[in-house]
Order: sequence, then structure tokens, then C-alpha cells
Amino acid sequence: MFKKNMSNSIKLIQYYKLINHNLIFNNKAINRYKKDNFEISEDKSNNLELLKNSIIELKNCNLKRQAKNMVFCDGNPKSKIMLVGEAPGANEDQEGLPFVGRAGMLLDKMLAAINLDRKKVYISNIVNYRPPENRKPTEEEIRRYLPFITKHIEIINPKILVLLGSTAMNALIGNNVVISKMRGKWIEKKFGSCKTSVIITFHPAFLMRQPAQKKMAWIDLKMIREKKNKLNI
Ligand code: URA
Repeated sequence: MFKKNMSNSIKLIQYYKLINHNLIFNNKAINRYKKDNFEISEDKSNNLELLKNSIIELKNCNLKRQAKNMVFCDGNPKSKIMLVGEAPGANEDQEGLPFVGRAGMLLDKMLAAINLDRKKVYISNIVNYRPPENRKPTEEEIRRYLPFITKHIEIINPKILVLLGSTAMNALIGNNVVISKMRGKWIEKKFGSCKTSVIITFHPAFLMRQPAQKKMAWIDLKMIREKKNKLNI
């Protein structure tokens, strides 16, 4: 009996060797998000490259299928001020850069009003591909891209994070808030290892439709200027 069991075990071991069992079975859990779960290192440009690649490698995304280009960022990765918008539009899709259309021109003016420009800040969006017909990204699309923008913020590690409009606000702060109540306030928030002061203001495209709200945006811009001076940025 013992002899028979022994010979079965030997046969089993030989069989496992034959089929290269260790290559087939692995005790580690399957990590389908391996690429965007990379560890952030000291090397910021490498981290950004890894993040960009993980977005490029994203599978089964309807936005990606219909867009011309991926829109990752503009500005200075060393900046301590990061701005996050909603999603690329037609011009951004064409050029592969955020805020280059009409809303972008207004954003440039808003930045200039507090002595900032694109070389002094860093800009990205909640989703990296243009939603067709410039519609808002859906909840599902936002959920898909949220780990990327969160990681993006963590890599840039800004001291001031400006959320432009309610899509960026709801995605990064929560769905239970409204922009009219949240804008013009500083909120301390953590994104991974990044601790930052967040301010929400109106999206430039909204300000083009509702110019009367520009005076509120000006209050927010002055708060950003004050904070920037206080933090010696
Ligand atoms: N609106 C956005 O939210 N982002 C852009 O990049 C352009 C327009």
C-alpha cells in the first residue's frame, strides 16, 4: 500500500515537472491593474512616463476608441500648482494638449490675472480622451479614469490643487457636494502620499456661458494668489 502511494506521488511530481506546473500555477493574486499600480519612485519624469503608458494600455475604453489623441498634460511638472479640468474637447483631441480651445484661452487669461501662465502651473483633466460630441464623461468613464488622475496628482505632488468645475469637484471630492457651496474655500486633502490644499472654482467653459459668475471666479483667483504668496510658491 505504502509503496503504491509512493510511486503515485513520484509519478505526480514527474508529471508536474513535465507540464512546468510552476509556470502555470502561481500563488499570487491576479493583478489586472498591474500597470497603474506601479510604485511611485523619486524619479518624477519616469513616474509620469509609467502613468502615461498605463493610460495608453487601457483596454476596452469607448472614449479611447473614438478619440484621435490622448490628452495627458500641459505645463511644468515641477510646479507646485496643479489644475484639473473635466475632459478634452475637439481642439484638445486634435492637438493632444489640455485647454487649447476657447475655454483654454479664457483659462490663460484667468491665470494671467494672478501672474501665472502655463509654464508656471501643471494642467490635466479627469478623463484623458475626448467624450464624443463634447458630452460630459459618464459616471462609469469617470470611475475608470479616477485611479489615473489620483495617481497623477500624487506624482506631481502640488501644494495647491485647483479643481475647475463640478465634474472635477465631484470626481475628486465627492458626489454629495455642489459647486455653488464648495467654491472659494480651501480644503485640505490627501491623494495617496500627497497632502494638498484644494480650491474649487468655476470651469472657464461655464464662465463663458454665465459671464456674471466671473466675479465669483475672480474671488477664487485672488485666494489662489494669496495662498501662493503665503506658501512662497
Ligand atoms: N475643458 C476641459 O475640462 N478640459 C480641457 O482640456 C478642455 C476643455
